[in-house]
Amino acid sequence: MSRDPIVARSLPALHETLNAFRAANDTVALVPTMGALHEGHLGLVREARRRCKRVAVSIFVNPTQFAPHEDFDSYPRTWDTDVAKLAAENVDLIWNPDVKTMYPSGFASRIVTEGPAVVDLEDRFRPHFFGGVATVVGKLFIQCRPDVAVFGEKDYQQLRVVTRMARDLDLGVDVIGLATVREHDGLAMSSRNVYLSPEERATAPVLHRTMQDTAATLRAGDKVAAALAAGAARITKAGFALDYFEARHAETLQPIASLGDGPVRLLVAAKIGTTRLIDNIGV
Ligand code: PAF
Repeated sequence: MSRDPIVARSLPALHETLNAFRAANDTVALVPTMGALHEGHLGLVREARRRCKRVAVSIFVNPTQFAPHEDFDSYPRTWDTDVAKLAAENVDLIWNPDVKTMYPSGFASRIVTEGPAVVDLEDRFRPHFFGGVATVVGKLFIQCRPDVAVFGEKDYQQLRVVTRMARDLDLGVDVIGLATVREHDGLAMSSRNVYLSPEERATAPVLHRTMQDTAATLRAGDKVAAALAAGAARITKAGFALDYFEARHAETLQPIASLGDGPVRLLVAAKIGTTRLIDNIGV
């Protein structure tokens, strides 16, 4: 039987609920989201449930991680179905602040990230992104003080940045990364997949297939530069505008010259039509 989660929209309401959990000595896991929830998010919620007595999910479409030309206004907002999905997972608490609660008038502070946030991947194409993500996730961690926070590996650079930030700032949160949930044809689940036309949707799995084949040729001994060039050509030929297709150290995200420099992660970002997709796999 599912039960409705408590919905908190103000900091006092959030703290009242969290204080009650803490008073009962319950551990708390947080799943930060921007809503438009899909199976990938629900996987994070289930992992949170495995790890802690109480599960909190934040739903906040964070304006500071979108550039003016990006999709903040059109980003899918599906509150009623999100709540129904979270109720079915027996989520205890939904933290749903509005923009003024998160960024009150006069807000003038920001978390500046380095290390994995400045490695010429997402940061090259979305220079505003990690400042916005780190600041909002830092605030979510401070507001909710979770024992554990669960993030998807699909946004792999984000996972590395947030993990580093939680450690560097002694936020006392154990950041867990969970494997990407995929559609039957390999496309990574994403709230932005709804933007794809049927033709684009049919082409989109090329990204995952190319990464898999590139990983296989690397394991078979191909040189990194040649394997990446072949993969990039295949992605472009399929109709994508490629931002990057890279092999990086899985922890630091620094470039690698050979598999011996690993553990290695392949990361890709490419636009099909007007939709930008990102994905990654371990080699
Ligand atoms: O991955 C997301 O959905 C967002 O970047 C996050 C972590 C919820 C911060 O707004």
